[in-house]
Parts: sequence; structure tokens; C-alpha cells
Amino acid sequence: MNVEKIPATEGRFNLQNYDETYANFDWAEVEKQFTWYETGKVNMAYEAIDRHLLTDKKDKPALLYSDLTREETYTYAQLSELSNKFGNVLRKLGIQKGDRVFVFMPRTPELYVSVLGTIKVGAIVGPLFEAFMEAAVRDRLSDSEAVAIVTVPSLLSRIPVDELPALKHVILVGGADEQKEGVTSFEAAMAEASSELEIEWVDREDGMILHYTSGSTGKPKGVLHVHNVMIQHLQTGKWVLDFQDDDIYWCTADPGWVTGTAYGIFSPWLNGVTNVVRGGRFTPEDWYKTIEKYKVTVWYSAPTAFRMLMGAGDEVVKKFDLSSLRHVLSVGEPLNPEVVYWGLRVFNHRIHDNWWMTETGGQLISNFRSMPIKPGSMGKPIPGVHAAIIDNQGNELPANRMGNLAIRVGWPAMMRKIWNNPAKYEEYFHIPGWYVSGDSAYKDEEGYFWFQGRIDDVINTSGERVGPFEVESKLVEHPAVAEAGVIGKPDPLRGEIIKAFISLRSGYEPSEALMEDIRKFVKEGLAAHAAPREIEFRDKLPKTRSGKIMRRVLKAWELGLPTGDLSTMED
Ligand code: WT7
Repeated sequence: MNVEKIPATEGRFNLQNYDETYANFDWAEVEKQFTWYETGKVNMAYEAIDRHLLTDKKDKPALLYSDLTREETYTYAQLSELSNKFGNVLRKLGIQKGDRVFVFMPRTPELYVSVLGTIKVGAIVGPLFEAFMEAAVRDRLSDSEAVAIVTVPSLLSRIPVDELPALKHVILVGGADEQKEGVTSFEAAMAEASSELEIEWVDREDGMILHYTSGSTGKPKGVLHVHNVMIQHLQTGKWVLDFQDDDIYWCTADPGWVTGTAYGIFSPWLNGVTNVVRGGRFTPEDWYKTIEKYKVTVWYSAPTAFRMLMGAGDEVVKKFDLSSLRHVLSVGEPLNPEVVYWGLRVFNHRIHDNWWMTETGGQLISNFRSMPIKPGSMGKPIPGVHAAIIDNQGNELPANRMGNLAIRVGWPAMMRKIWNNPAKYEEYFHIPGWYVSGDSAYKDEEGYFWFQGRIDDVINTSGERVGPFEVESKLVEHPAVAEAGVIGKPDPLRGEIIKAFISLRSGYEPSEALMEDIRKFVKEGLAAHAAPREIEFRDKLPKTRSGKIMRRVLKAWELGLPTGDLSTMED
């Protein structure tokens, strides 16, 4: 594409000789930097936190936390001690290596301590976004057979303990008075626990974190990552986030999603930088104030947030001193060129787009500081990774031809398993030698990648992946709904919004009130972000002869496009 390039800027770590590094890079060079390189035994939490206690980073702030009621600082030494304690709390409950322990709570220091402590005893941590309602919580806990969950009193009613036979322990943060069997008070247990812990040394291929993500059909998929991801998290922290020792870094993503763990926990702490966490809801003023107050230098956010900030206007920006910023990045959905130009104008910074997925575990394609940016492009592959556009047979396509965005198998952070679902896992690798992302894209003659869309029906709304099937299943539970088909409808602010086409059971008539009731039903039954913003009632939905809702036809109707091949459609 012929767009004006925004010139490179001076980085500090720098990926100055991109072509040379790209051609010669060997991941073993990164592995050697870890203490486990010799022993072969490893633990992510040790490498991210405890290792720094042997250096002058011991008393350096690791976590700067604030929300409406709390404002706290934790050094590396303090996080080490607290996570040791939590590890002992889990051990005392009988939690062992490989057990699944979920965290289901708002972004607070206790969440971070729980994640680290869980990993320290070799258990697998499962982060759950706090907006999930009962059905979503049940599906994920039961699929993974979680044995323990850390949560807060306000979310307790969404955990259907009786329906989860494997779940033995609920650890409650801030609910000391809830005296029930199987319920442990976080505070009481922490007060008793020793701050000395024997870390569980595991194999680099042992499970560490289980992130549930949405696909187009069926239940959410549990994507398992192993301790080995640290190699990529350490290195992309340098190449992509440009980390240096004195950086104050703010990743705005919630740890319920992969960005909020990989780049909101592991990458910054592996690199020993100071990590800012802001709890509570988004407002433009709050966000700018956070940058001003902590003198944030590296800021990692998402297109939907940048668009909301843009919508709040340039005047708001001028009220704050944002001069500490030196590097701004975005991930999760396409970053519109107009947002990049806006960023240049108001922050005097390029916003660096990058691409990856829950399944890829770490960043794979990026606009590096040391390269010119073409607004609208996701950038180029990181060294050590071969990304390509391939056809359905696995042939690499020439420049500017649209096809499957695929990665040659074998980068360090690649998922190792879809929990309980080997067939699903295999689907990603159905073209031999390749991981097929499900995104379509093209590569221009200079090697920049351009995102075109999802090939499957997954909806990306405000940077969050929502599976149409999960929403449809919830919709048809509503007494008025006979059938439902759900699609993503392009939206200037949210990227896509969820639109539901619904046919009603006999005896029900379309109305505004019914629409509102259905919306509320999904909000309360599944999650607020999964509720359809738009609902359209139809007498009949387009289906295949085998009874599958044809979402592509719904989408074509919605966009006024040709419906394509209808040979499989029922009469
Ligand atoms: C899907 C993955 C991994 C970060 C958070 C999302 C879309 C991601 C970009 C980008 C266009 C993007 C893709 C991808 N996506 N980054 N820079 N430009 N689209 O993780 O929830 O697993 O979603 O998000 O469609 O497949 P996720």
C-alpha cells in the first residue's frame, strides 16, 4: 500500500539492524540469560520476581497500584514475600503441581500476589475476567476441573460450587466473616503463612497458565501456556516494548485477558521494570492522570481505548502533563490510521501497533521503534519468527495477495494444548508446518503485514474476542427466543458490536421491552461485554440443510453485500 511513512524514532534497547537480527537470531541466546539454563529446572514467578532480589532491584518498586480507594507500592522484595506466603497458603490446602487454581476478582494487588503464588507452587493459574456471570464461570471451571478459586465476596454468588465437584477451595479476599465449609479467608491464611517458601522447580514445558478464549463454535477454549513462554516475554519486552531499567510501564489490559498477564505481569517483571496497575473503570481524565501521576514512560493499550480517548477531545489532553511518555503501543484489533495520526498530533508519539493472539502467547508482529511506521499496518515479524501469507494448501503467496496469516511452528510462547480438546488444537496446525491464525492479511513488498479480518466468525468487540456460539446459546435460553444468529457489525468506536438476529417462539411479539429484556438476560447470564447491542427480529433465520445458522449470510444482509454461495441453505 502506498501510504506516507512515519519515520523511525530512536529507541533505547533498539532493534536497530532489523534485517540482520532477523536473519541471524537464535532463541538460545535469550535462554542463556536465565538462571535455569544450566539446571533445566525453572519457575516463571522466580524469574520474574525473586531473581531480582539478588540484585540492586530488590527494593525497587515492582508494582504501583491505585484505584478509587487504595494507593499502594510494592517492591520486588515485598512481592516475593507475599507470593511466598500465598504459595504456602495453597500448599496448606493441599494444592499441588499441575492443579488448576483460578483467580476471579477485580484488579487489585491481591490478584497479582495470587497469580505469582500459584505459579510458585507449580500450579496452573486460570485468570477469569471479573465481568463473567455464572454460566461463563461454570463452563470454564468445569472444563478445567479447577480445584481452587481466589475471589471476592461480591463475585461469590456467580460460582456454582455445587455444580463443580472438583472445586474444593474458595479463597476469599476481604471476606473474613464468611464462615463456610471450603471457604478460606485470604487475610487470615496469609497472616499465618510463613514467608519462606520452597519454590516448585518445574520443567520448562510444564503448564503455567490457562487462558480461556472464544472460538466461533462450541464452548470457550482453554489455551495452555507453559513456563517456556518466558523466553519470548523477556525478549519482546526489549524489542517491542523497548524496556530499560528505569521505565515506568503501564499496560491497561485486565489480567482476565492474555495481554494483561503476558504483558501486564510477566514481561515487565522479567525485565525488572516498574509496573503500574490502575483498578476501576475507564475515564479519559483518570487515564491521563495516571500517566501524569506516575510519570509513565511506556504505555501499552488498545485501539478501542485510544478511540475513546480521541472521542473525548484534544482539550482534555492539554490539561495533563504527559511529557514522561516515550513509547506508546497498541494491540487487540486493527489500529485505525486516523488514530495513529491523532496520537502523533496530541501526544507527539507514534502509536506502535502489534499483532498476536491468546494462542500465540506473545507478540509476533510489530512496529518497532527503529522502523518507519505505515499507519494501518501491524508491522513486521519479530526476529526468530517466520510469519507468512499462505493459501489453503500451505503455499506462501506473493506480496500484496490476501490469504491466511500463518506462522511457521516452533516459537517459544506457542500454546502447548487446548485443554480437554486435542482435536481443536490440531485444527490450528492442519496445514503441515504452519500455525494457521484464522486471520486474513497480506504482506506488502516491503514486508509489512496488513490485517484484513477474521476468517472464522469470532467477533472482536472493544478488543475482546466473543464467540458467536456462546452468545447464541445464551439467547436461546430466553423463553421468548426460538433461534438466534449472532454476528459482529462494524462499529467506529468498538471495532465491532454484537448484533443478534432472533426469531421468536410463537406467542411472543417483537417489542422494545422484549429487546431490552433479552439484552439484560445475556448481560446477567453471560457477561456484559457479550450482550448484543443490536437485536433484529426475523421470522426465519438462514440455515444450512444440516441446521447450522449461516452467519455469513446474516453478515451479508447486514452489510448489503452479495450473499455468495447458497447451495447448502435449506429451502
Ligand atoms: C485476535 C486475537 C493478543 C492480544 C489481544 C487479543 C485480533 C490482535 C491485532 C492487530 C488487527 C488484531 C486478531 C487476532 N488482533 N491484534 N494489531 N490488528 N487485529 O488477543 O483475544 O486472542 O484475539 O485479535 O483477529 O486473531 P485475542
